[in-house]
Amino acid sequence: MTKRVYIKTYGCQMNVYDSARMADVAATIGYAAADRPDEADLVILNTCHIREKAAEKVYSELGQIRRLKAARERRGGRMLIGVAGCVAQAEGEEIRRRAPFVDLVFGPQAYHRLPEMIAEAIRTPERGVIDTSFPAEPKFDALPANRNSGPTAFLTIQEGCDKFCTFCVVPYTRGAEASRPAADILAEAAALVAAGAREITLLGQNVNAYHGTAPPNGSRGGERWQLGDLVRALTERLELPRIRYTTSHPRDVDDSQIAAHRDVPQLMPFLHLPVQSGSDRVLDAMNRRHTAGDYRHTVARLRQARPDLALSSDFIVGFPGETDEDFAATLALVEEIGFAQAFSFKYSPRPGTPAAADPDQVPEAVKTERLAALQTLLQRQQRAFNEGCLGRVMPVLFDRPGRHPGQLVGRSPYLQAVHAELPADRIGDIVPVTITAALANSLAGEAMPATGIGAAA
Ligand code: 5AD
Ligand code: SF4
Repeated sequence: MTKRVYIKTYGCQMNVYDSARMADVAATIGYAAADRPDEADLVILNTCHIREKAAEKVYSELGQIRRLKAARERRGGRMLIGVAGCVAQAEGEEIRRRAPFVDLVFGPQAYHRLPEMIAEAIRTPERGVIDTSFPAEPKFDALPANRNSGPTAFLTIQEGCDKFCTFCVVPYTRGAEASRPAADILAEAAALVAAGAREITLLGQNVNAYHGTAPPNGSRGGERWQLGDLVRALTERLELPRIRYTTSHPRDVDDSQIAAHRDVPQLMPFLHLPVQSGSDRVLDAMNRRHTAGDYRHTVARLRQARPDLALSSDFIVGFPGETDEDFAATLALVEEIGFAQAFSFKYSPRPGTPAAADPDQVPEAVKTERLAALQTLLQRQQRAFNEGCLGRVMPVLFDRPGRHPGQLVGRSPYLQAVHAELPADRIGDIVPVTITAALANSLAGEAMPATGIGAAA
């Protein structure tokens, strides 16, 4: 009899990738995917700790799963509950103390050991299993091959971060920066393409800090590859029409990355490049290690290499000590750069990070006001960007069914969601679409006959 695992994912794309890989690991010991938690023998919450109330949300979700576990036990069954991801890494034993019915607590560096941890949790249910270590053996070597893929796939190429921005928990929860060897990435990408991937997004907390070992038999064997080398090799060696990567740090943008945007047509013209603030004083206090001027310069270089490059960013408002003048500098930077989309957040103090201890915290009401002003501006820019697409013909990679029958949803080169009337068998095709409607967060269009540019054979 097969067992079932249900994984609920919070937070970033790294977690989406990790959840998929955890499902792969669980499959090696006979766990099939469950559609609902009440059907599952193992429920895993893959958590995120980046912003406020993350831990509280996890505890409240655990309260509900506890009821499912109790109901299952009343029926004579059994359910294991696991907490994974960055809240698990940060809270560790505290989770078992507050929620003793949790069987497994493990961080992002430990999920390849799921089979041993599950076996141990079954053997000693009263003890629970906690693994928040940063193991010496490389996690990726111990994972089964990743062949799960729809038309759009994720592939982690580096993990962790050495930047220590003063607001951020990532260096503590994900650990030090580590790049996977290029040969492993090429092999995983080849498997994804063989399984139907037409677009791969390379993932990493600090993806453009990538500096993995070059393949042993490559032209620069034994050396280190940068992100640009990897992008080139993947598109040269594989039948891969589209590639993206996220998330970049402005400090690490280098010539190889910029040249890839100029030279590699498969590299999509969209870049998520978080700037956080437009004030040099705040950037310094955040330990971002660059100025607003550096960011402008980097964007200018990127746009010179790829003039239609669409930009996205992350912003934090109300960082400790941020004045009206600092905030005005952020608005000015946004006005000047022009973003196709962006994420913006109120600063939330994360326990253990330097900025959390700063006595000069910004009042909540001020944060609320600033966030509203910034979001109004960013939404206006996003709408303008979307409206600028009206009437254009764009190659759209359709990757999922739409909300109503006969409709598919895909991605434009600029990562916009595009809706069009198409039969389900066109999922996985790159279809030229005339854009006929622009909404705040998506586009709609009409598919052209399948003979045009980029259409699948
Ligand atoms: N408060 C608010 N936003 C944060 N981010 C990271 N840490 C915090 C925090 N303490 C945001 C940053 C980052 C994005 C992933 O989350 O903008 O780029
Ligand atoms: Fe966090 Fe800064 Fe590292 Fe990004 S670069 S993960 S914001 S510490």
